[in-house]
Order: sequence, then structure tokens, then C-alpha cells
Amino acid sequence: MNQSPASIPVSHEQTPANRQAIQVCFDGSCPLCRTEISIYQGLNSSTPIQWLDVSTEDAPLPQGLSKATLMARFHVAQADGEVLSGARAFAALWSRLPGWRWLSVIARVPGALSLMEAAYRGFLTIRPSIQSVFRRLDVSHLPPTMVGDMRSNQAGETGAVWIYRGILAATRDASVREFARAHLETERKHLLAINALLPVLRRSKLLIGWRIAGFLTGSIPAIFGREAVFATIEAVETFVEHHYQVQIDQLLRRGGHAELLSLLIEFQSDERSHRLEAIENLNALKTPRLIRSWCRLVSVGSEFAVKIARVI
Ligand SMILES: [Fe+2]
Ligand SMILES: [Fe+2]
Repeated sequence: MNQSPASIPVSHEQTPANRQAIQVCFDGSCPLCRTEISIYQGLNSSTPIQWLDVSTEDAPLPQGLSKATLMARFHVAQADGEVLSGARAFAALWSRLPGWRWLSVIARVPGALSLMEAAYRGFLTIRPSIQSVFRRLDVSHLPPTMVGDMRSNQAGETGAVWIYRGILAATRDASVREFARAHLETERKHLLAINALLPVLRRSKLLIGWRIAGFLTGSIPAIFGREAVFATIEAVETFVEHHYQVQIDQLLRRGGHAELLSLLIEFQSDERSHRLEAIENLNALKTPRLIRSWCRLVSVGSEFAVKIARVI
């Protein structure tokens, strides 16, 4: 049921009716709506407000209104059962919020509510485009202090994928190829999982650089033989294991974000097993000085890359 503005009487005075509790029905799956509602939720309302995210599975919808209707427009259900939508719903909400009441006063000027409704309808036509930009930027599911870390993870996992591609491009050693193929699969999964968490517009802008750096980090040692490959992987994975540990510690300290925490713990365990597998292959071998110097360069380079990727 989509009530037209003209059919719903509403007052914006601080009347007993306006002092009654209201239920605000919003689309929590829309980052734009979520952002706006979170601003309202931070204010001290003059009346109790029940916030209902109608996008959730078992949201108790106001009687007679479908989920599709409630998702399509903003609605406010009043204590007497009357349901307002669009500009009237906003005016009813604003009338209860400090700092926003002046808008509900403007809505009382003859013709103003119709203009607001027309503006709201205009906004609804462009909302999908705005939502898509917001979704590409939305990181509200991540701890605010960890967006840079996640960007560095994305750069690192991209580099890891290309390290193994570089190894596969430069070696014919069957056991090294088998090692690289198996690890490439894991790194691909890591990258996909990070990409799913990090919206496109928040990802590193230097992906081509990380791909080239990864490819060189894999292909150069592969030219020099298996010892160089395994020593390089040990150096890379030692760095990555520590990199994930710092983030795991940070999440443990702040609490919450259990899914992200278990994902990072799983990644770290994979990286640890990559490192141990590389060490196993190195056991009987004495690492030449040149390879040791190369590995130091790889570690310093990884640290430098993480610093850059945190920012861009
Ligand atoms: Fe990885
Ligand atoms: Fe790895």
C-alpha cells in the first residue's frame, strides 16, 4: 500500500500526537539510507523512535504493507496506526529530531510538502545510481581503522597470485611447478575473499604495479633454481604471517568483527603452511649469500609495498 501524500493528514506541531512513539521503516540494505538513518539515530529524539530495517529477513512489517512497498519508499508508522510515506514521513520524523525540526516547520508552508514530495520522487529515480556509487565505497562492515590494512591485504594477495604465476612462467622443475600451482590456488581464494570485502573504489589503485612486482618476485628466483624459489617463498610468507598477526591482534583488542577475525586467522594459517612447506624443501640445502641478499630485498620491498598500499 503506497499512500499518496494528499490522502494522509499530518501535523508538525509539538502536539500530544507528535509526542507519541513512531516506527521508522528504512531500507538497511541501501548504504545511502543506512548512512542517513545512522545520523538520525545519533540524535536525542523528543519521542521514542523504533528503527525498523525492513530489508532484514524477519522484520515485523507494519500491518498491510509489503516488504517491496517499504523498500521502495521511506515510511513512518505512527502510534495510532497511521502510516506516512515519502516527504510526509520525513516531516514526521524531522519534527521529533533536534536540529531537524526547522525542516518540518518549512513543510508546513502551503505547497512546501508537495515540492518536497516531488523532490523525493525525483531522488528515487536516481537513487539506484547513487546507491551503486555508495556500494562501491561502503566499508561500514569493516573496522574503520582497518580499511588501509584490508587494502594492503588486497595488494599483497594480488602480489602473491602473481608470484606463483611468475614461478610457473620461469621454471620447468616439476616439483616447483606442483608447489606453485597448489599455492596459486590458495592465493586466488584469498584474493577473492578480500575482494568480496573491499568495495571496488576502496581497492589499491596500483594493482598493475603489484602484479608486476609479484611476477618479478616469482620469476627471477625461478630462473636461478629451486633453492632461490623456496627461500623467496619463505621470506615472503614470514612477512605475510606477521602482517596478518598484527591485524589479528588489532581485532582481538577491539572485539567484534568475528567473521573477519576468523578469515584472517584462516589466511594466516595458510601462509604459515606455505612457509613451512618452503622450509621443508630448503632443509637439506645451504642458502647461498646472493639468495639471502635477494630475500632481504624481498622482505624490505614487501614492507615498503604494504606502507604504500595502506594509503593508495
Ligand atoms: Fe595469501
Ligand atoms: Fe601464501
